[in-house]
Amino acid sequence: MNKRKILLSSLSLLAGLSATAATNELVVKANKPGAPVQPTMYGIFFEDINFGADGGLYAELVKNRSFEFPQTFMGWNTFGNVSVREDGPFDKNPHYVRLGNPGHAHKHTGIENEGFFGIGVEKDHEYRFTVWARTVDSEKSKIRVELTDPDTMGDKQAICKQDLEITGKEWKKYTVTLKPGKTEAKAHLRIFLCKPESTVDLEHVSLFPVDTWKGHENGMRKDLAQKLADLHPGVFRFPGGCIVEGTDLATRYQWKNTVGPVENRPLNENRWHYTFTNRFYPDYFQTYGLGFYEYFLLSEEIGSEPLPILNVGLACQYQNNDPKAHAWGDDLQQYIDDALDLVEFANGSTDTEWGKLRAEMGHPEPFNLKYIGIGNEQWGEEYPEHLKPFITAMRKAHPEIKIIGSSGPNSEGKDFDYLWPQMKELKADLVDEHFYRPESWFLSQGRRYDNYDRKGPKVFAGEYACHGKGKKYNHFNAALLEAAFMTGLERNADVVHMATYAPLFAHVEGWQWRPDMIWFDNLRSFPTCSYYVQQLYATNKGDNVLPLTMNGKTVAGDPDQNGLFASAVIDKTDNCYIVKVANVSEHPQDLNITFDGMPKKSEISGGKVITLHSDTETAENSLDNPAEIVPQESDIQVSGKNYSTMIGPKTFAVYKFNIAKQNR
Ligand code: AHR
Repeated sequence: MNKRKILLSSLSLLAGLSATAATNELVVKANKPGAPVQPTMYGIFFEDINFGADGGLYAELVKNRSFEFPQTFMGWNTFGNVSVREDGPFDKNPHYVRLGNPGHAHKHTGIENEGFFGIGVEKDHEYRFTVWARTVDSEKSKIRVELTDPDTMGDKQAICKQDLEITGKEWKKYTVTLKPGKTEAKAHLRIFLCKPESTVDLEHVSLFPVDTWKGHENGMRKDLAQKLADLHPGVFRFPGGCIVEGTDLATRYQWKNTVGPVENRPLNENRWHYTFTNRFYPDYFQTYGLGFYEYFLLSEEIGSEPLPILNVGLACQYQNNDPKAHAWGDDLQQYIDDALDLVEFANGSTDTEWGKLRAEMGHPEPFNLKYIGIGNEQWGEEYPEHLKPFITAMRKAHPEIKIIGSSGPNSEGKDFDYLWPQMKELKADLVDEHFYRPESWFLSQGRRYDNYDRKGPKVFAGEYACHGKGKKYNHFNAALLEAAFMTGLERNADVVHMATYAPLFAHVEGWQWRPDMIWFDNLRSFPTCSYYVQQLYATNKGDNVLPLTMNGKTVAGDPDQNGLFASAVIDKTDNCYIVKVANVSEHPQDLNITFDGMPKKSEISGGKVITLHSDTETAENSLDNPAEIVPQESDIQVSGKNYSTMIGPKTFAVYKFNIAKQNR
């Protein structure tokens, strides 16, 4: 008997033993379809935190490729005669290195890069090495490019190597393909000057897997991008998060610095390098290789609406709330212009300045941007004061763009209570709410949106996660409570239009914040239970909410309803009803699901149930055991108007019932 069968039969036994427990009556009003579930409802939040971009999704394997880190050789070892110069071919990244004569034919000059926690390469896969180079005092020079295994006890360190001839004193881009003879998670990239007497200059030293997501040269790590696509996200929020704000305005995220040739995108600091001193990463910077063009393209390729968040002229108020840290008066205009120009970059015709750049980068067609968020976790009077001129300017120039304001960093309380009415007054289209909260909060918030004003701005639950006790990566009970809470998002789809779990990615050696949805190392990645919850919602969101009562109550979102949370939708494409039930209790529960008011001469006929369950609350997926907890699917045999079943303890279940013509 397999594990699942054992579980089902033991649960049936338990159900039999608890014969006195009343059956829970779930009644779905099939003839009363309510609000549409927005296509944007379940999405993803991306920020370069936890080495999510550089060292993560962005497939570049070389750290500090342009020698622009404040410590020029951070990430590099040098040997022999290496010097730094700063009159390079890219004005925004002017530094480069000169490999000169080491002084003797038996000595060597070169540089060696450690990658991000090493360089992950796979046996027989191809890696594209590129470098901008020129000779200095001769017409020809040669460099050797090696991937090495620094820990090997073997006779040779190199796991592959190629020579590259550099010709001429003009800067040119050179490419060579490396094919490692073994898989190595922590390789180094070593570059030697082959002829000691022929000095060479090197700039923008880069190494990418050839096999990136969709094969893009400046591409994404395939396994990570695929995991995003598999979530079927309706909306893609980028680039954060706090990095939008900057510790000071000079270090805020400026999208204009992230477009155009990658070689000339200026380096920015990443506040996640120093925000937490218990997880301190002095070598964490933003190269912007993954910039706004790449974000828009990725949104398109994974089928989600792009949702950029821009700075509102306020630095991060947690880190820097001195009024002098913020932009005021006329100084705000450049921030507003950045927002207007972004719409032109995304949607403008190719004869506009920014539309032309988009076309030059490879995408003449517009990206169809529909939403823009202004400000991240701002608070106080200064936020609406700053937001107002953005809204005025955007409405005038682009009335078609929906504007998202913020309710601050907290899910309730003084700032939240102040900002929501302000957002209403400013007529923001949506309001971004954040809640990183413990299990008890998630358990108590199933009805959070039931009484929201139906006429005000819509809700964007823009950053949320259950921070469960005892988490390492992200454990099952937290995910289960997220699933329970999300029934309330779904039941209130008329007011909640978007929800994005956060953060999205974390490198197991480089994280600063947890829990996160997807974890990875240099070669592997795994989805957490929270990932599966998000996926189950996104792939079963249906078209319209259906009213559902549980044991006579009109909502199923109270913790005192036997630990059951539920919602229902109709999926018109697949012609089925979908009922989601989270049983957060430790007991199996009998359910009787009835469909009231089905179309004449129709009935439910067969279907399937997908469950997510663990016997252990703190169980987690991990790199070594990525499938410890995964959704399990089985068929449902049913015909008629109702279905009786038992849901196991600590289980999230998605029931899909086919709607069919009656046979009788
Ligand atoms: O998701 C991590 C951080 O949490 C985000 O950057 C910020 O918006 C929030 O405080």
